[in-house]
Amino acid sequence: MTAVDEEALTSAEADELERAAEAALRPKRLEEFVGQRVVREQLALVLQAARSRGACADHVLLAGPPGLGKTTLAMIIASEMHASLRLTSGPAITHAGDLAAILSSVQEGDVLFIDEIHRLARPAEEMLYLAMEDFRVDVVVGKGAGATSIPLSLPRFTVVGATTRAGLLPAPLRDRFGFTGHMDFYEAADLERVIARSARLLDISLDPAAGREIARRSRGTPRIANRLLRRVRDWAQVRGNGAADEAAARAALEVFEVDPRGLDRLDRSVLHTLCVRFGGGPVGLTSIAMAVGEEPETVETVAEPYLLREGFLVRTPRGRAATALAWDHLGLRPPSAPGTQAQGTLFVDGSGAPPA
Ligand SMILES: Nc1ncnc2c1ncn2[C@@H]1O[C@H](COP(=O)(O)OP(=O)(O)OP(=O)(O)O)[C@@H](O)[C@H]1O
Ligand SMILES: [Mg+2]
Repeated sequence: MTAVDEEALTSAEADELERAAEAALRPKRLEEFVGQRVVREQLALVLQAARSRGACADHVLLAGPPGLGKTTLAMIIASEMHASLRLTSGPAITHAGDLAAILSSVQEGDVLFIDEIHRLARPAEEMLYLAMEDFRVDVVVGKGAGATSIPLSLPRFTVVGATTRAGLLPAPLRDRFGFTGHMDFYEAADLERVIARSARLLDISLDPAAGREIARRSRGTPRIANRLLRRVRDWAQVRGNGAADEAAARAALEVFEVDPRGLDRLDRSVLHTLCVRFGGGPVGLTSIAMAVGEEPETVETVAEPYLLREGFLVRTPRGRAATALAWDHLGLRPPSAPGTQAQGTLFVDGSGAPPA
């Protein structure tokens, strides 16, 4: 199997094909949506209150890492409000005119879902402020000195924005959302429920112990959990007796190189390099990336966040350093004198090798 395939297995992003497979697994009602207790409760309140007022819901922003259920929640909001859902995304709106066209066709009570809202072009963003606050767009007619802007009033509707980068959202836009749901990685127990539910829908006979095993290796992310479940099913079909039991889960995940803590080949290779080549660090990102044969950006955005979150490595002003957990996980012994590791072997170019 190629490195690309393997990376895709534990990446939180989804491609087109996978998005189609996911559609079948999306919970349709808020009560079916597993985990995210805080956001679910907050959202339930906001929606129920709006329904009982007979009004449309306030604008909602959903923020959090990929694969945690933002698109799913947007669809749930529309269905709970018995509203039609319009879908678009920041990158799809390249001109303010694109947004004006969408807005002018919005109907009373619609839910307009804008994915990757942090990637909206500036002029469109400004148009959106006005639409969200005053339910109005200014349509510019004509050019140059003769141009006039004609205000067009819009029916009441709800914007649901999703972003993986809430920090990139300009404050004026952020402030126009009446409610922001911060999505967090899932607890293992919640992931087990996600997996059990998906297994039912996909008609997979899944052992609870296998569900636990998959949950543990899914990086707190339902999208990864569903993907690993499908690979375990593959293994059970081809090499097992069709049942997704604990042994099948273990064997399948070993074939696909997802280790017991959910680390994949790239993650392990980063840790291994850090410990073995650089004596545990601290060492610069570029040196690590060169040693594992990847772009620094790939190491920083694909491998590092999970390694940091799980406490396998730390970022220091002088670079990345392995923690005791990393050494332990690789079955290696850290250098015996604590505090002296690596410092003595780090050279100006950060390569861990003396200058020629
Ligand atoms: N709470 C949940 N319960 C059950 N399934 C879930 C839950 N959250 C997400 N999923 C499943 O995980 C998959 C990914 O969810 P979704 O597409 O909503 O993520 P996202 O946050 O929009 O990701 P991205 O940032 O990549 O757009 C879907 O197939 C969905 O069925
Ligand atoms: Mg999405």
